[in-house]
Amino acid sequence: MHIHRSMSGVEVWAPAKLNLFLEVLAKRTDGYHEIETLMVPVDWYDTLRLSACSSGRVSLTCRLAAGSRVTASADPFELPPAADNLAVRAVELLRQRSGVEQGAQIELTKRIPLASGLAGGSSDAAAALVAANAAWNLGYNGEQLADIGAELGSDVPFFIHGGPAVCRGRGERVEPVRDLAPMHFVVARPPVGLSTPAVYGRCRPADGSPGHGPQRVGPLLDALRIGDLGRAGRLLHNALMQAAEQLSTWIGRLKHEFAAAGCLGHQMSGSGTSYFGLCRHARHAQRLAAALRSRGIAQVQAVAGSY
Ligand code: C5P
Repeated sequence: MHIHRSMSGVEVWAPAKLNLFLEVLAKRTDGYHEIETLMVPVDWYDTLRLSACSSGRVSLTCRLAAGSRVTASADPFELPPAADNLAVRAVELLRQRSGVEQGAQIELTKRIPLASGLAGGSSDAAAALVAANAAWNLGYNGEQLADIGAELGSDVPFFIHGGPAVCRGRGERVEPVRDLAPMHFVVARPPVGLSTPAVYGRCRPADGSPGHGPQRVGPLLDALRIGDLGRAGRLLHNALMQAAEQLSTWIGRLKHEFAAAGCLGHQMSGSGTSYFGLCRHARHAQRLAAALRSRGIAQVQAVAGSY
């Protein structure tokens, strides 16, 4: 997350994330699932500008950046009304908790596709908390903002901490990881998204699959720390993929396309439908992006780990 302060307010670049590893350990009694996931922020950003105002209200102007609109008419994931926007809800919550009397004007430019497993909404919410904290001079520390963020969504604390991290619990327990090799990816987001609760609702946790213990993230972290990208590619894992495949035929198609494209390894991100391939370097990612675009996959982007 990059933060710039100016006379007119605070601008935050809110990154997308990729899940290089996601194991579903168990279903919990509160409706969530216990997970272990390695998340990496990438240089694909929404931009959030926030300025304090005296109105006492929180307002939002939101636009999709050129080229970011998902074109298929089958896509039910249009931008939600402002009151449902997670960034607005984040600022409202911070306003309540802090008792601040000022309001805020938020301008959000969306580039990260919606309902795609890239956590654009959660990243916007984290950016909004950081921006409002700065604009209102509240002086909350990262831990306090992350606690408020966890009430809005399981992925929000990850973005407050910034950098790659292993996340546990329902995703809100963040353990930053350092010294990972630079990484380049090609990411494809098909024209139709998936709902996170629907995908989790269909997944089979590791504790309910006799004979199959959970996979652990350690070997992948080891490979990424020594820069063995070939091995890392083989260790990418996402326990939600089978459930997502049952809900969208795009997942099977992307798996096939990425296997043919020649990346070091490929996997779905989060609850889908975004799918990514690990590449040798930036040029490799760009070459594969061009190849996938020519195969008619809606939105394809070459990105790098942002840390
Ligand atoms: O936390 P968040 O609002 O992003 O979660 C959305 C939904 O995804 C939850 O209501 C739940 O159905 C599902 N979920 C889950 N286990 C997680 C994270 C999310 O079951 N660890």
